[in-house]
Amino acid sequence: MEPTRRPRRLRTDGVRDLVSETELDASDLIAPIFVDATTDERVPIRTMPGHERVPVDDAVARVEEIRETGVEAIIVFGVPESKDAKGSRAWAEDGVVQRATRRITAETDAYVITDVCLCEYTDHGHCGIIEDDAADDPTLTVENDPTLELLQRIAVSQTRAGADMVAPSSMTDGMVGAIREALDDEGFSDVPIMSYAAKYESAFYGPFRDAADGAPAFGDRRHYQMDPANAREAMCEVELDVQQGADVLMVKPALPYLDIVRSIRASYDHPVAAYNVSGEYAMLHAAAEKGWLDLESVARESLLSIKRAGADLILTYFAEDIARRL
Ligand code: PBG
Repeated sequence: MEPTRRPRRLRTDGVRDLVSETELDASDLIAPIFVDATTDERVPIRTMPGHERVPVDDAVARVEEIRETGVEAIIVFGVPESKDAKGSRAWAEDGVVQRATRRITAETDAYVITDVCLCEYTDHGHCGIIEDDAADDPTLTVENDPTLELLQRIAVSQTRAGADMVAPSSMTDGMVGAIREALDDEGFSDVPIMSYAAKYESAFYGPFRDAADGAPAFGDRRHYQMDPANAREAMCEVELDVQQGADVLMVKPALPYLDIVRSIRASYDHPVAAYNVSGEYAMLHAAAEKGWLDLESVARESLLSIKRAGADLILTYFAEDIARRL
């Protein structure tokens, strides 16, 4: 019996690249960096091997290391010098992200994206304002509408410091529209918004909360981040952000949510981003450390799969390592 069609004909070394459907390129990758106002030395992040928190004075050097690998875009996270109930260091002109962004944009050609959120800046670790007695209240909620004004202040202050793009991640209803309006009022109508449109309440953020010191002091984020069970709701979140003027639509985490990436790709013409989060990075490192997986191969396969599902851009802690080998 002779097969009529033989897909193996196109799997030889000479032709494989010609028929390859998906390509990974350094220009698709965004590298996260952590700038820490509480240290004057680099501090390794225990749960994210190869990553460090860097002092503001080292932010430019950190970005240059990334640019040498071919990655041109970064997203900046900050660890502030102090925290309070409202997270006021998030919009301070001399805040850690603002200082770092000013230096990076003045001294490098990197494309600088800033994360617009409050959880690293509030003493309670939630992504917005909470009711006074919320700590004892099992039905705790972040107050949605009062939080919008703070997000506007953060986005404006980061853009004044030179951010090329802002990325709101707090899952506050109306956040994209509020930030768009504030940026336009300040004359920043050319600055795009990458919305964390479908951001799930995920256990894969664990190592990041170590890295950025943003774990909630009590309660959890399931009353504002999305339920991992829901896919139709993700399309609703995305549609709302599109209506409010989002320029880039992000899904987070990436690998466990590739169905969502694929659905958004099929329904919208906007660029789609996926955030290959800290837990996705940490678990591959942990398995590789045990000798159970080959790190470079699984990292590359992960990123390729995210692109194949339909992502145009990938935020990933593997950015430098993979770009260096492309
Ligand atoms: C801030 C924020 C988080 C991440 C990115 N921005 C933490 C969270 O929502 O708890 C997670 C990134 C990662 O795990 O790599 N809201």
